[in-house]
Amino acid sequence: MNLKKLNIEGEVALGPMAGVTDRAFREIVKDFGCGLMFTEMVSAKAFYYEDKKTKEIMHIEDFEKPVGLQIFGHEPEIMAHMVENLQDFNHDVLDINMGCPAPKIVKNGDGSALMKDLKLIDAIVKAVVFKSNKPVSVKIRKGFAEVNAVEVAKVIEQAGADFITVHGRTRDQFYAGKADWDIIRDVKKAVSIPVIGNGDIFTLDDAIRMKEHTGVDGLMVARGVQGNPWLIKEINAYFRTGKRIEGPSPEERIRVALKHLELLLKYKGDRRGMMEMRKHAAWYLKGLHGSSKVKDQLNQAVSSEEMIGLMMNFLEDLK
Ligand SMILES: Cc1cc2nc3c(=O)[nH]c(=O)nc-3n(C[C@H](O)[C@H](O)[C@H](O)COP(=O)(O)O)c2cc1C
Repeated sequence: MNLKKLNIEGEVALGPMAGVTDRAFREIVKDFGCGLMFTEMVSAKAFYYEDKKTKEIMHIEDFEKPVGLQIFGHEPEIMAHMVENLQDFNHDVLDINMGCPAPKIVKNGDGSALMKDLKLIDAIVKAVVFKSNKPVSVKIRKGFAEVNAVEVAKVIEQAGADFITVHGRTRDQFYAGKADWDIIRDVKKAVSIPVIGNGDIFTLDDAIRMKEHTGVDGLMVARGVQGNPWLIKEINAYFRTGKRIEGPSPEERIRVALKHLELLLKYKGDRRGMMEMRKHAAWYLKGLHGSSKVKDQLNQAVSSEEMIGLMMNFLEDLK
């Protein structure tokens, strides 16, 4: 398998973000022509115990495809059990998380903690590839504390994975400092399966520079898409046609934010939808004249009608 078969070669992928890339977010981003999107990470152990919330996170609609389902864990048997039970599931790629830096994940030996144990990486990838009827990818970092992405990538390739995504930071860096694009280039040179580069693409020019610097097969953007799905459209348009398209007007930003709220309310209900919209609204409104006041008001809104009204009024004031 290669990225060509997924029909996403040369396109930018949406990176998995727990608490962000849910169904509503992906629906918005799909409207902007995103080729490959990833779900929030789901726990293989929680799936084993038939956790209800896990099922909700895993829901994928046909129109979103292709979608990568990202799983995390550290026990090859539990992860293989999950993958075996996904034979008829709606995902297009099965992605293994070896990058999450969160203390509660790392302390269980999951996420980026796996990068410390090459034998375990080999066992997990082999077990998952053996059971998966879909392409398998692995998302790694530059290393845990020590830098070992190249070694890790070789093990992953040998174990049979179809492609690798590299985020150019160590676990110890979390999301701080600058992502190291040299390590992404080094991984790309070291393996023959496709490599997706990730870390610090916030503008079209970042995307162009990352592609030139690393020679990767694909790019992945995560934080840059928060409140800014236009970035996906801009990057894809440039790589397809060489043309730069205009960014959104303030009205356009608010129109999409309102749509995002509508989807969150639909999928998560009034209370949760409103709570979760707060962070998205702050991202959409960032930098707009007078937005700090309306952000405060949105955070105190007691009903979804009030939230919608606040955004509509802000829109009117901008005109
Ligand atoms: C809020 C948040 C949640 C994230 N959740 C995940 C996750 O569930 N799985 C994963 O592999 N990476 C996760 N990441 C990491 C991103 O996918 C990405 O690797 C990282 O943010 C660097 O890319 P960027 O500079 O484009 O944001 C998360 C990042 C953020 C900011």
